[in-house]
Amino acid sequence: MSHACRHIPRMPVLSEHGIAYIWSITDNMRVGDMVDVMEAEAGAREARTFAKKRLLVASGKGGSSKTTTARHFSTAAAHAGLAVVTLDLDESPTLSTWWTKRPDTLPSIEHIRAPIHELVDLSDVDVEGEDVGAVIAARVEKEILGIEDYDLLIIDTPASMAAYPHHANALIRASDLVVVPTRQYDDDINSVTSWMKLVRDLGVDGMFLLSDTQRRESAFEDAKRKLVKHGPLCPIDIPHFADIPKTLSKGTSVIDMRRGRGREDYAAAFDVVRQKLGV
Ligand SMILES: Nc1ncnc2c1ncn2[C@@H]1O[C@H](COP(=O)(O)OP(=O)(O)OP(=O)(O)O)[C@@H](O)[C@H]1O
Ligand SMILES: [Mg+2]
Repeated sequence: MSHACRHIPRMPVLSEHGIAYIWSITDNMRVGDMVDVMEAEAGAREARTFAKKRLLVASGKGGSSKTTTARHFSTAAAHAGLAVVTLDLDESPTLSTWWTKRPDTLPSIEHIRAPIHELVDLSDVDVEGEDVGAVIAARVEKEILGIEDYDLLIIDTPASMAAYPHHANALIRASDLVVVPTRQYDDDINSVTSWMKLVRDLGVDGMFLLSDTQRRESAFEDAKRKLVKHGPLCPIDIPHFADIPKTLSKGTSVIDMRRGRGREDYAAAFDVVRQKLGV
């Protein structure tokens, strides 16, 4: 995989060799500028080692705040000076579209788009003669472990993960922590607890994150009591705030806003993640 640069627009693509990046030059930029920045970045990368922690955001439930969590944690990581890469596995590219809008003036995030069904090429796999699950798992793991030069890789997943059980297993196993966002209502909780069971059965750390909460409803406290029966719960929840969806179309998050409502909640939840991962 080619090295990535944080200041020049680049387009991640899936090539026959896996995930790769294409550089693009904007109107107000010269090729010389790009080379200078790439060389400076390469020098900086050689000068330090990377923590290479992988955080999977997944829940097996649609609309549970996975993408919202990924964009807030990635901006929190970028503000903290971590080299952060986001990987968007969703077929509908909400996180990727958000990333393309991110203003250059804000702490930067590297990004890879790889819809789950294209993450690995399976055209050569003999469905009769091979253990397809094992082949998928090995290729997914190789792809994830092959990503370079980051302190924190944040992987956003589609709601359809259940349709990709071998991908899901490999992604979980390749992760240091799986954050499982959930809303506070019973149907949400029932879906995400089975996902947490899978994570724990695979021997990987998981943590529920109650999101889009309504703290005054009785369902909020009920949800906490139910979730802790199934796995660790982040001690910080993320309440419902109108500022949070508003930042999606701007390429930002409430972490980027001085007085964004929900900023302190996401910052504190990210502190919990950092402690768990040791980054
Ligand atoms: N704390 C919050 N306050 C207000 N709105 C929120 C909050 N968290 C999430 N939302 C909104 O809830 C909706 C679902 O969130 P999001 O897109 O992050 O879920 P998802 O799990 O990624 O969904 P999908 O499974 O479709 O990928 C979005 O419109 C998002 O802006
Ligand atoms: Mg999403």
